[in-house]
Amino acid sequence: MSEDLGESRAPGVDEPFVLVERVVDPYIVLFHEPSGFRSEQFRALRNKLVVMNPEGLPRSLLVTSAVQGEGKSATSLNLGFALAELENTRAILLDFDLRQPSVSGMLGLQPAPGLTEILTGAMPMREGIRETGREGFDFIGAGLLKVRPGELLASSRVDDLLNALKEEYSYILLDSPPVIPVTDAGILAARCDGTLLVVRLETSPKKLVKQSVKNLEELGANVLGTFVIGIRGADPAYDERYRYPEES
Ligand SMILES: Nc1ncnc2c1ncn2[C@@H]1O[C@H](COP(=O)(O)OP(=O)(O)O)[C@@H](O)[C@H]1O
Ligand SMILES: [Mg+2]
Repeated sequence: MSEDLGESRAPGVDEPFVLVERVVDPYIVLFHEPSGFRSEQFRALRNKLVVMNPEGLPRSLLVTSAVQGEGKSATSLNLGFALAELENTRAILLDFDLRQPSVSGMLGLQPAPGLTEILTGAMPMREGIRETGREGFDFIGAGLLKVRPGELLASSRVDDLLNALKEEYSYILLDSPPVIPVTDAGILAARCDGTLLVVRLETSPKKLVKQSVKNLEELGANVLGTFVIGIRGADPAYDERYRYPEES
């Protein structure tokens, strides 16, 4: 018996398929190099937060910075992965940077309905929860609807969402826009148990960092401290990446 290999086809071979390679942002070091030195720095941050928190508080944590491009999104993602390493700990990251969302992209995933749909009542919370690929760490992306962030963030639905998530997760991390150009982070900070300010050494203007802490505290935020990322870079005042869409 002979087989005509040239003609034989496995079932389904005619159906086109695309192999999608997931490209996770290189700064998500807990994903790429979990045993590396840089990952340890995020575990140290996690440990500090956990020690601050003997009774399970602060459980909702806003991650922000003075200006754009200081590493808020990378920090909140790394922190989420680090928290998920702890036993009996589940973390969720909410991409509250509705103006320049980046969480799904940094995870190498497509944007999908998320916070804007949930907060406008267009979708139940559960449908917005997505997996990061690591057990114990989920996220909700910013969503696809065009909204006015100022109005949406002030709504009591934000509190309802945070409270509902606290039933299921040990830590709720909120990524956010920077403090100086827009008020979103201030509005959110007052409703979170704690706020962490990311400071990129040598690029964060000191004056603006101080101003951010002042703004946040005036709005009722519990500023827990700063997380310093030590990297060299361009002067934020002249760097394209630090531009931010105007307040709407
Ligand atoms: N730990 C880090 N070390 C060095 N560079 C970093 C680090 N985290 C982020 N960056 C750089 O900063 C850029 C902005 O990071 P991102 O997390 O998107 O900032 P933000 O959310 O504050 O705008 C990244 O694209 C990367 O170039
Ligand atoms: Mg960001």
